[in-house]
Amino acid sequence: MQIQWYPGHMYKASKELKKILPNVDLLIEILDARIPFSSENPMLADIRGDKPCIKVLNKSDLADPETTKYWQSFLEKDKGVKTLAVTNQKTHAHHFSKAQALPDLCRKMIPIGKNRDRAIHALIMGIPNVGKSTIINTLAGRTIAKTGNEPAVTKHQQRIDLGNGIVLLDTPGMLWPNIENQNSGYRLASTGAIKDTALEYEDVASYLAEYLLKKYPERLTERYQLDEIPRDEYEFFNIIGKKRGCIRAGNHLDLYRISKIFVTEFRDGTLGEITLETPEMMKKEIVEVNKIREIKAAKKEARRARRKSKKK
Ligand code: G4P
Repeated sequence: MQIQWYPGHMYKASKELKKILPNVDLLIEILDARIPFSSENPMLADIRGDKPCIKVLNKSDLADPETTKYWQSFLEKDKGVKTLAVTNQKTHAHHFSKAQALPDLCRKMIPIGKNRDRAIHALIMGIPNVGKSTIINTLAGRTIAKTGNEPAVTKHQQRIDLGNGIVLLDTPGMLWPNIENQNSGYRLASTGAIKDTALEYEDVASYLAEYLLKKYPERLTERYQLDEIPRDEYEFFNIIGKKRGCIRAGNHLDLYRISKIFVTEFRDGTLGEITLETPEMMKKEIVEVNKIREIKAAKKEARRARRKSKKK
């Protein structure tokens, strides 16, 4: 899965969403509980209007439980939004809801009434690898073929009748990650949502290590049996690289190999339950992205004005 995002894809996807919206009763957006901001559809809030929306924080087994709760209360401040922290991992059955809790929440949000003489139609969406298919299969009780994960592929919308008064609509191309924000790009790569070829392992590992050294140092000291917290990510990789035998000829650190080990251990939960972002980080980054956008727009406008004056 190579993701290549162009403004054209975003435009097409948002146009598609606007077209479908009047025919759906509610939206189900699957988020990665480790990155609820970076895995959300950045345009949904604007397009959704007051359509009810369930934000499912999936893979909660891998996320920091306290931060997941905090994210849930933050997200639910938005009108018409309810959240559900779920996991598809059997071993975590006692900590979080299973996907089966979703239909009940759908029914609660759209009670039977004058507007409900038909099944609830729920549009389900989520970035690649977030666990959308796993959830759909769990709810349907059978394996449903995946819709296209690539943006703008022309595959057909799937209509999955759950047989309990709820129909899921799974529409291909209905996804676009939040990559305008560089931090989100690194976090999406850290969790495996962006394919490895798109970003260098070493860069992703450095980003991840810098964050974990600040926010979860005890997880690192415990996992890698460190006597003290390393000063920075370079020292960290040097120490754990040696411990793991990631050494090349000439006694040099094999940064690629240790980076890959480290990122893999984060992704599969070996480092413990970790969340990579908070609502506060999100607010700060949105301000930064808006500033960059304004600078870009001003530059574009200046170029346009220069071209115009040359023509005169
Ligand atoms: P998608 O349709 O959104 O692209 O995602 P999909 O359901 O295919 O799931 C992507 C990967 O995420 C799968 O792992 C799946 O097992 C894993 N996954 C889904 N839900 C959860 C969850 O709640 N917790 C955890 N820890 N993992 C989850 P995979 O390695 O690609 O495949 P496999 O291990 O299932 O063979």
